[in-house]
Formats: sequence, structure tokens, C-alpha cells
Amino acid sequence: MNAKPAKSDPIKSVSLTRFLIEEQRDKQHINADLRLLIEVVARACKSISLAVGRGALGGVLGSAGTENIQGEVQKKLDVLSNDILLEANEWGGHLAALASEEMDDPHPIPHRYPKGEYLLVFDPLDGSSNIDVNISVGTIFSVLRCPAGVQDPDEKAFLQPGTQQVAAGYAVYGSSTMLVLTLGDGVHAFTLDRELGSFVLTQRNLRIAEDTREFAINMSNLRHWEAPMRRYIEELLAGKTGPRGADFNMRWVASMVADVHRIICRGGTFIYPLDAKIKDKGGKLRLLYEANPMALIVEQAGGMATNGLTRILDIVPQSLHQRVPVFLGSKNEIERVTAYHREAAR
Ligand code: AHG
Ligand code: MN
Ligand code: MN
Repeated sequence: MNAKPAKSDPIKSVSLTRFLIEEQRDKQHINADLRLLIEVVARACKSISLAVGRGALGGVLGSAGTENIQGEVQKKLDVLSNDILLEANEWGGHLAALASEEMDDPHPIPHRYPKGEYLLVFDPLDGSSNIDVNISVGTIFSVLRCPAGVQDPDEKAFLQPGTQQVAAGYAVYGSSTMLVLTLGDGVHAFTLDRELGSFVLTQRNLRIAEDTREFAINMSNLRHWEAPMRRYIEELLAGKTGPRGADFNMRWVASMVADVHRIICRGGTFIYPLDAKIKDKGGKLRLLYEANPMALIVEQAGGMATNGLTRILDIVPQSLHQRVPVFLGSKNEIERVTAYHREAAR
């Protein structure tokens, strides 16, 4: 018998541009404006990636000497990344307004430019405490539709539950720069080809394993946690001989983007619960530009995201910079820790 030589698939390199064109033209999944929006955000992320990569040589490390509305000291890179995203997105005609962690109020589109139908919300530089120590940081973004009939969107226009997001994504500036994106039809990952200067599709339809033996949490807050949170983590820490009958491993990068990216790649959970220190604030992470986009990505990859009691994407925001507790990642663990909280609340 003549064995036929195995036919290998031709290597098809799909750029982000081609991916988006196919989403628009073939799948009719997005329109030209949303395609432009994603392209523009990706281009801005390339600029941020360059600035992050230059580090001390670019003079971008250290504090900017200012504070944002949340009372956090802004780093030079927080401000620079915010400016890069603003400048890139103002003039294209695809947006009605923008909002960011680093701006008190929504940013209107200047009158000299046309306005579009979308709202863009972002955390320009996530993981600020890691900038100066050369650890992965990122950018997180979420896209909403501007409510019908609203000409000059104010804060209220942005207060939509996460289920209304038409797209969400993040860029992670790590050992390589990657863009992870959902348009509501799965999660896809692109790696920046630094020579070509373009994002290339490297993984389609990422899936988060339902079970995991890895969790991410800032353990230094343990003494401030509520009872159900302590119960859950103590069970994990008890390992093989404890009630879970298995050893669990822990990771904490302190850049949400990097921690979530690990979960997207190999499963796991990421938890920033409520604790006594931050109770008045409602949590640590921000709903509109951290929790919602990450929750959409995680759900689209088959994971789960709650605030300990309810689905994050169902929360109706009350203010632009609202904070929430965040529990996300592998489904079976998030279901369990959420069940402990619900039980305690009853
Ligand atoms: P940001 O740098 O945008 O303010 O976000 C930091 C967030 C998040 O990225 C990270 O998971 C968390 O803060 C770390 O908090 P702790 O320093 O309390 O661990
Ligand atoms: Mn952040
Ligand atoms: Mn930030």
C-alpha cells in the first residue's frame, strides 16, 4: 500500500486587520465603525507597548506627581497611556465619547470631529505598581453603544450593564505583547509581530478549563476578609488532607491583566473580594473598565465572573468609577466560592 504523504495545511498568517475584515464581510458580525474602533485601539496599544518596552531609556518610569479621582498617585505611564488612547480615538468618527480610569468625567469628542455610535471605556495602564519593576502591565477596554438619541453623552450614557458591551479586550505588555479580544463570539488572541508592527492571530476560541488547582488572590488581606472568603481559601490551603482533597497552587502578579491572561491560557481563578479596609468603596477593582470587560472575556471563554453573589455582567452601574468585588475564572471554583457567599448572605 502506498501511504499518502500527510497533507499539511498551508500556514495562513492572519493579521488583526484581516481577522476584522472577515468578521465584518463574511460573518457580518461587526460594522465598519466597530472594525475601525478595534484597529485604532490596537494601534494605540502598540504605541503603549513601545513606551513600556523602552522603560528607563524612554524616561517613562516613576510618578507623574498627580492624583486621579480615586485618590491614586498617577504614574507617568498612566498619564501617557491615557493620552495615547485619547489622541488615537478622538478623530476617527467612530466614537460618541470616551471614559477612563484616569479622567474624572467622560471625555467628549471635540466639535471639529464627526461623532460615531460607540462609547469607549478603558483602564489605560493596568498594574501601575509593576511599571517601575519591569513586571507585565496591560491595557483593558470595553465598547458600549451610545444610547439612542443622546447627542452629548454624559456619565449616565455609560451606566450600562456589562451585558450591553459589544466588544471588550485587553493588551498585555509582557515578554511578548498580546491583544486578547472578544466581539461577543468567542475569545481570540493576537501576538504583536515586532518586526512587522502588526498583531497576528495566534489562538482562536480560547477556552478556560472548568476545573483548576490554581488561584490568584492577595493573601495579605486575609485578616480583613469576610467569613465565606476565609472559609473558601482555608479549604484550598488545607490541601490534600483537607476537605478539598487536593493541593492548590497560588499566583499573584498584581496586574489584573497578567493574572487574567494566565487564566485564559491555563485556567485558574482571580479573586479580589470585599474586605474590611475597602468596604466603604465597595471593592478594589472598577466595574466599567476592569470587571466588565474581563467578565465578558472570561464568560466568552467558558468561565464565570461574579461579585461573590451575582453575575458581574448583570450589575447596573450607579457611577463611572464604581468599584466591585471580583471573582472570575474556572467555572467550578467560581461557582463554589459564590455559593459560600450566597449561603452566608441568607
Ligand atoms: P491599576 O494599576 O489600573 O490601578 O489596577 C491595579 C489593580 C489590578 O491590576 C491588580 O489586580 C490589583 O490592583 C492589585 O491590587 P493589590 O496591590 O491590592 O494587590
Ligand atoms: Mn487596573
Ligand atoms: Mn490603571
